[in-house]
Amino acid sequence: MMAAPGPLAACEIRELRAADVPAAAGQYRDLFVDGTWNAAAVGRSLDGPGSFALLAHTAGQIAGLVVARAVADECEILWIAVVASRRRSGIGRGLLRAALGRAAGLGARTAYLEVAAANRAAIDLYDGEGFRRCGRRPAYYRGAHEGAPCDALVYKKELGSGEGSPPQSSPDHRTNGETKAS
Ligand SMILES: CC(C)(COP(=O)(O)OP(=O)(O)OC[C@H]1O[C@@H](n2cnc3c(N)ncnc32)[C@H](O)[C@@H]1OP(=O)(O)O)[C@@H](O)C(=O)NCCC(=O)NCCS
Repeated sequence: MMAAPGPLAACEIRELRAADVPAAAGQYRDLFVDGTWNAAAVGRSLDGPGSFALLAHTAGQIAGLVVARAVADECEILWIAVVASRRRSGIGRGLLRAALGRAAGLGARTAYLEVAAANRAAIDLYDGEGFRRCGRRPAYYRGAHEGAPCDALVYKKELGSGEGSPPQSSPDHRTNGETKAS
């Protein structure tokens, strides 16, 4: 059963380095998806130019991560996930905002991402954060969602000067210097 929405617990967001990935993957398997965003893929993605990843902690425990890439004036949210037991408490929103703030600080003016059409939770998150649909890739995810092909929806957001603000409902949200919007 889905946990009820609740206030965001104190959440600290910091840089994830490639060296952190094996430990995070060992402890928190629900942050990684076999075949696509598994630990090896996340680790590899961090080698690319403009790539970065942020890790959310609550009460000293890893609670979620976001992987993104910012090149020139565009960025792409490559993967975002929250530990299943910590979902629906604002951590995904906090991570997304932190990543967009970081990308804006690197010069990105437009953010893109793609999401499975069946992924209601993620779609609602992106809609609520100002992303708008700009494309559809039919049957893009093959067998990843209950064995059936699933369309990918492409979403886009123009980044503004206020990008990276912590969620209003999270007075305890803290970021270190590297993840603050500039
Ligand atoms: C998508 C995901 C990252 C959201 O993280 P989260 O911490 O639970 O999200 P938040 O608590 O910050 O929720 C922010 C908003 O997203 C939407 N949302 C989140 N979970 C939802 C759900 N299960 N059903 C409907 N809407 C949901 C809501 O609009 C929510 O705002 P509200 O709580 O004020 O109604 C999380 O569900 C997850 O890790 N899913 C598995 C991995 C995944 O699918 N990643 C997306 C890849 S594109």
